[in-house]
Parts: sequence; structure tokens; C-alpha cells
Amino acid sequence: MTMGNDTLTIIDNRTNITYTIPIKDGAIRAMDLRQIKTSPDDFGLMSYDPAFMNTASCRSAITFIDGDRGILRYRGYPIEQLAENCRFLEVAYLILNGELPTAQQLAQFEAEIKAELGVPENIKRIIEGFRYDAHPMAVLCSTLAALSTFYPDAKKVRDPQNRRKQIIRLIAKVPTLAAYHYRYSRGLPYVDPDPTLSYTGNFMKMLWKGLEPTYEVNPVIERALDILFILHADHEQNCSANAMRSVGSSEADPYVSAAAATAALFGPLHGGANEQVLKMLDEIGSVENIPAFIEDVKNRKRLLMGFGHRIYKNYDPRARIIKQTADRVFQVTGRNPKLDIALELERIALSDEYFISRKLYPNVDFYSGIIYQALGFQPEIFTVLFAIPRMTGWCAQWDELMGDPEQKIARPRQIYIGHGHRDFVPMDKRG
Ligand code: CMC
Repeated sequence: MTMGNDTLTIIDNRTNITYTIPIKDGAIRAMDLRQIKTSPDDFGLMSYDPAFMNTASCRSAITFIDGDRGILRYRGYPIEQLAENCRFLEVAYLILNGELPTAQQLAQFEAEIKAELGVPENIKRIIEGFRYDAHPMAVLCSTLAALSTFYPDAKKVRDPQNRRKQIIRLIAKVPTLAAYHYRYSRGLPYVDPDPTLSYTGNFMKMLWKGLEPTYEVNPVIERALDILFILHADHEQNCSANAMRSVGSSEADPYVSAAAATAALFGPLHGGANEQVLKMLDEIGSVENIPAFIEDVKNRKRLLMGFGHRIYKNYDPRARIIKQTADRVFQVTGRNPKLDIALELERIALSDEYFISRKLYPNVDFYSGIIYQALGFQPEIFTVLFAIPRMTGWCAQWDELMGDPEQKIARPRQIYIGHGHRDFVPMDKRG
């Protein structure tokens, strides 16, 4: 909303000087504070914002979240409508290009992705260099970074056509990297990508094909995975998107930037939470143990994993859709008994003052792991299942960054709190 006078008046009580600075889109520019000085040689006022609690790092047209109202939209379209009506690659196209594709545009995009599903042969040997029990997220970080060595043309990050080529490669190859490691870690032979299948159908085949001559993609599971992928495709300036942008801002290539984003996602406070939720549900074991567990959480002995969010102070809309998807999956796989523990945990938490007053609700990771487990996945791979669709979001964020003339290398300021100047002390004079 535009007011009559979109400015902020600041009086510096140190000097009694008044400054007027513009407000645009509900924000002031931190650089406008720099003019506020106590003397000509003063550096100027900075804003201090550890963890970016109240700092916008970019202007973005990709994803909108209203955390208080529990709204998530990609390019303006509500997540519920996209999850209901679209296939994953249709949403990927939307996120990358800004508009839903026509039938022809989608067919072309799918063809481009399918042409890039294969990974260089050496990737298999890189995967085989890891121990059989290596964490799949650490392996994914490494194999994504390794792609940089095969595609040196990716360095031309200022060329939009070239960026698009690398984005197609990244989105196409990430399921293959994940599936190859999955097969290797189980001592199973690799299954080459099958371009006749959908993005998720091909992923399922690469993971699960056994000795049967033709792998039949179960359409219910395929659809459920598609929905999960749509829900995870982007989430504006989260920790991993910020890592992608921050590394990308140095003009590093998108493969190593995506490896950095994957590293950020690995953390248990971010995408790693889905793995931790299942471990937590295992540890709780049965519904009777929930009250004691909740007491531990309230006494700050531990976190209720899959709850809380920096932005959502309401039910995460993705968690709601995942809950509905779970029912459909369980019709095929059988019900995961952990669902009962999760539902009761949610019920108790949502009626407890500790969680109510802090506006802590289930986030996307609370129910996703229960579905993944019903599909036969071990918790260690859950975060990889998040990284695969999030590659689209990271790439869109990176492309937007590279096309934004206001952006430069990301380089925060600090407030130095260490020693002032002091002279070197020889070793025999120390201690
Ligand atoms: N269990 C118990 N207490 C919590 C939790 C939780 N999961 N999350 C937040 N709180 C408390 C926190 O202790 C604090 O209490 P107080 O004000 O009394 O000190 C208050 O709620 C505010 O939390 P915060 O830590 O300031 O919030 P944040 O925005 O810094 O952290 C978060 C957000 C997601 C890291 C945090 O809620 C958390 O650690 N949740 C568990 C991990 C998780 O599920 N992560 C997945 C996030 S969603 C998808 C994704 O990013 O992958």
C-alpha cells in the first residue's frame, strides 16, 4: 500500500541530526543508514541482524509465503492448486519460467530434461569410492560438486542461455545421482535412466527395478511422489536457497553452488529434520510415551523435530497436503504405524500452552518421513528426497540472482568485538 509520504524520519540522539530515508515495499535500505555518522571519519550506522531475522537479501518474484496465514504460492499460484492439478515438471517449468507451460512448452521441457538424465560414467566410480554406509546427503554434495569437473562450460554464469543449459542438466541428473548411490549402497546393479517414463516414474525405476523384465510404475506411488516433489520445489529465501545465492554470487558455477545448497539442506534444523522426525518417532516408540517426551521438549532437553518454522506461525500448508497424500499411499503400502504416534504427538502439542504461545505447528518435515518410510526408504535418504525437487528452486533462485542488476557478491558486515591493536609477543614472554 502506498502512503502519502513513504519515508522514515530518524533522529540521531548522539548528534541531534535528523535524517529522512525512503521506504519502499515495506523496507528501508540498510545502505541508507550509512550516512548517519557522528563525525566525518565515522564509518556510518549499520544494521545488525544475526540469522537474517529481519533482513531482505533480494527482490524475488518466485515464491510467496505468508507465514501468519499459512499461505504458500509459486509464481502466484497456491500450492494446493498446483499439488492437485500439476505434474512435477509442469511446476518446475512454472518456477523457472514464471508462467505455466502450454502443452507444447511442457513437452519440449520434458524432452530437454529427458535428454540429460544420464550422468558421466566416472560418477559411478566416484560413488564407489565411498564406504557402503556413507550418508547419502554427503555423497550427493560430492557428486553434484563433481559434475562441475565434467561441465567446465558451466563457468559462463553471465550467459542466460548457458545458465539454462546447466539448470536442465542439474534438474535432470539429480535423481540419477541419488538413485545410483542408493543402488550402490545396497549392493545392487545400477539401473539406467528411462526417458519413456515420467520424472518420478523414472526415479522409481532407477531405485527399485528388480529382476522383472519390465518395471511397472505404480501410478498411486508415482502421483504421491510427484505431489511430494511439488511441495518441496521451492520455499523462497531459506537456508539452502541462501547458500545457493551466496556461493553463486561469487560467480562460482551452479554445480558447486548446488553442492553448497545441498550441504545447507543436510542440517537437522533444515531438510535434515525429516530424518530426525523418524528417529524421534522410533525413540518415542508408542503413544503412552508421548507425554514424557513432550515434558522433555518443554524442559528444553530436546526439540520436537518437524515442528516450528522461521516463517510459518500457522499450520504449514505443505504439512496439510502431505497428511492427505499419506492416506492414499497407505492404501498401497499398508499403514505406517508411526502415523498414530505422529497424530497423537501433533494433537497433544497443538493443545499445549508451550506450543500454542510460541505458534509452533507441524512443518513439511513432520509427515513426509512417514510416507517415505511406508515407501520403503530408510531415514538416511529422506533429505535426498527433499534435495531432488528443491534443485528446481535453487536453480530458479540462482538464475534470478544472476539476472538481477542490483546484486553483487554477497558479503555481510561484522561488528568486530576482538582485541584492538597489540604488538607481537615472543614465545618466551607468553603465558
Ligand atoms: N521444539 C521445541 N521448541 C521449539 C521448536 C521445536 N521444534 N522450535 C522452536 N521452539 C521454541 C524455541 O525454543 C523458542 O522458544 P523461546 O522463545 O522460549 O526461547 C521459540 O520456540 C522460537 O523458536 P526459534 O528457535 O527462535 O525459531 P527459529 O525461527 O530460530 O527456528 C526452526 C526455526 C525451524 C529452526 C526451529 O523451529 C526448529 O529447530 N525446529 C525443529 C527442526 C525442524 O523441524 N526443522 C524443519 C524446518 S521446516 C523445513 C525445512 O527447512 O527443512
